[in-house]
Amino acid sequence: MTKTCEILDMVRTLIPDHPDTESLLTAIVNLLRRERPHYNWVGFYLLEGNELVLGPYVGKPTVHTRIAINQGICGAAASTGQTLVVDDVNADPRYLACSLETRSEIVVPIKHNGQVRGEIDIDSDQPAAFTPTDRELLEAVAELLAARIDGWKTESRRR
Ligand code: SME
Repeated sequence: MTKTCEILDMVRTLIPDHPDTESLLTAIVNLLRRERPHYNWVGFYLLEGNELVLGPYVGKPTVHTRIAINQGICGAAASTGQTLVVDDVNADPRYLACSLETRSEIVVPIKHNGQVRGEIDIDSDQPAAFTPTDRELLEAVAELLAARIDGWKTESRRR
């Protein structure tokens, strides 16, 4: 299995190679999906006002293209600014179902200048799939992307 530090090196290489943030985030969801087979759905949400708006993702289409920050596991992670690991999504009343196969989920906020700008959301078909190593990897990816996510918000506003 590719080591955490090797995946982070790949992310560091992708950042300057993709000046367009949407294409960078697409490359990263594909990288994480490929390198970690237990990540069945990998996506980004961007915080716009009080809503999380779905960005690039890989996996089955989801109905949750916009999530209020007081809803779902995604909303809970955005409003607290803390990573959430849910070992059994069906036992968590906050859970908004995306796919019937999903058993566990991790949501990692992306913060810039101390403020949540977006998040990485990953679902697994395996129960309790996310270890402290996954958390460490994804929090480091979130940190590497923080400045770009902030810029992306400005880019999408300009459109
Ligand atoms: N499960 C998330 C919703 C997003 S989908 O899984 C892609 C939640 O409870 O917030």
